[in-house]
Amino acid sequence: MAALKVGVLISGRGSNLQALIEACQDPATAAEIVLVLSNKANAGGLVRAAAAGVATAVIDHKAYADRAGFDAELDRRLKTAGVELVCLAGFMRILTDGFIAAWRDRMINIHPSLLPAYRGLDTHARALADGVKLAGCTVHYVRPELDTGPIIVQAAVPVASDDTPESLAARVLAAEHRAYPLALRLVATGRVKVEGERIVLDGRPETGAILMNPSA
Ligand code: GRF
Repeated sequence: MAALKVGVLISGRGSNLQALIEACQDPATAAEIVLVLSNKANAGGLVRAAAAGVATAVIDHKAYADRAGFDAELDRRLKTAGVELVCLAGFMRILTDGFIAAWRDRMINIHPSLLPAYRGLDTHARALADGVKLAGCTVHYVRPELDTGPIIVQAAVPVASDDTPESLAARVLAAEHRAYPLALRLVATGRVKVEGERIVLDGRPETGAILMNPSA
């Protein structure tokens, strides 16, 4: 099976990017990262990509008059690199509806909560304030509304009574590093497909998303 050409969009430290890079070193993932794009020149993920021999580029959003102009340049770079699937990995820019439509069903994201709970920022502090007992992360296809879209994988993580946002974030991040490679492999090997707003796994819509539970 030819490796799926992946572009990863980042803004920061890139620990999920690192997990994806390592996953792609396994032929079973059936994916190859052909480009890492960052809107921040100082993103730590750029160093990780370079160390792994992955092509990188910086597109500074501040150099563009509006979101549409920035997104058009993103789109151009991705297409030039032959990208077939976009992975958002800590990319901190809101994407335009036009860009999201252009990459519909070809763009996935990781979010540090069990969606649809805690869309947006500060997920761990909000979860702790609510006293939830399970936190986690979600890998999903991207739709125009922020942090929505068909769910591919969720990993559940227990909340400890003495958790701080930082300690919970660290536990969830470890789960992210397992969930995102799994989701990429499922998509790249064709085991997961998206039909409308539902995921089909191995041709069976009723099985829905993959759940990784706390003991997994
Ligand atoms: C992760 O928590 C991810 O879920 C969220 O942004 C963070 C990125 O971390 N979207 P990293 O840059 O991958 O280390």
